[in-house]
Amino acid sequence: MGSELLKVGVLVSGRGSNLQAIIDASERGEIQAQVVVVVSDKGDALALKRAQKHGIEALFLNPDAYPNREAYERAMGDELERRGVELICLAGYMRVLSPYFVRRFSGRIMNIHPALLPSFPGLHGQLQALDYGVKVSGCTVHFVDEEVDHGPIIIQAVVPVLDDDDEDALSSRILEYEHKIYPRAIQLFAQGRLKVQKRRVKIEGIKPETWAAVNPPLQD
Ligand code: GAR
Repeated sequence: MGSELLKVGVLVSGRGSNLQAIIDASERGEIQAQVVVVVSDKGDALALKRAQKHGIEALFLNPDAYPNREAYERAMGDELERRGVELICLAGYMRVLSPYFVRRFSGRIMNIHPALLPSFPGLHGQLQALDYGVKVSGCTVHFVDEEVDHGPIIIQAVVPVLDDDDEDALSSRILEYEHKIYPRAIQLFAQGRLKVQKRRVKIEGIKPETWAAVNPPLQD
């Protein structure tokens, strides 16, 4: 039965709350996937400790030990392949992957971003949304291509932006949904239900939502 689980490798740099959500969903049997290795570019990442706590191999790969990004990513790719990783999930991994790595694992890398892409890519997506003055924001899980925060979108969640929000308040409202949509995207991948057609990801056997969200409301 265990052999039916999709083998996931998670790349991290910091806190690891999305990693935690994925591990928890896996342990609860909500996703047909297991995290087999966590790789960090930062030795002191809390995410590494979270992995160890669950008996998951936690690997610190120091970028300074390699002559360039591609050499680093070649080593990382080898470590992932050695463990039979079938899907790579970026979860707060704060480095831009090289075209080399993206091609090597083409269609098998996902990322989560704390904004409704293509709005507010890059760093501090939540603060960018606040500063711009949008009324809704959210989060996005997408396949990774050679451009930053750009590949085909798998799932998005929308949350309201409130008048007295600061970066922390909006970030935590968004984070709650990051923790729901990332495991969901992994499960859909594990089930083989994600069909990429150019930029559009169709999901087999699913009826899309029919609602629209309006903020502020149309009536008092
Ligand atoms: C998350 O909010 C994730 O969406 C964001 O970093 C945070 C990592 O938190 N990623 C990006 O901004 C990528 N562009 P976590 O380490 O607790 O999962």
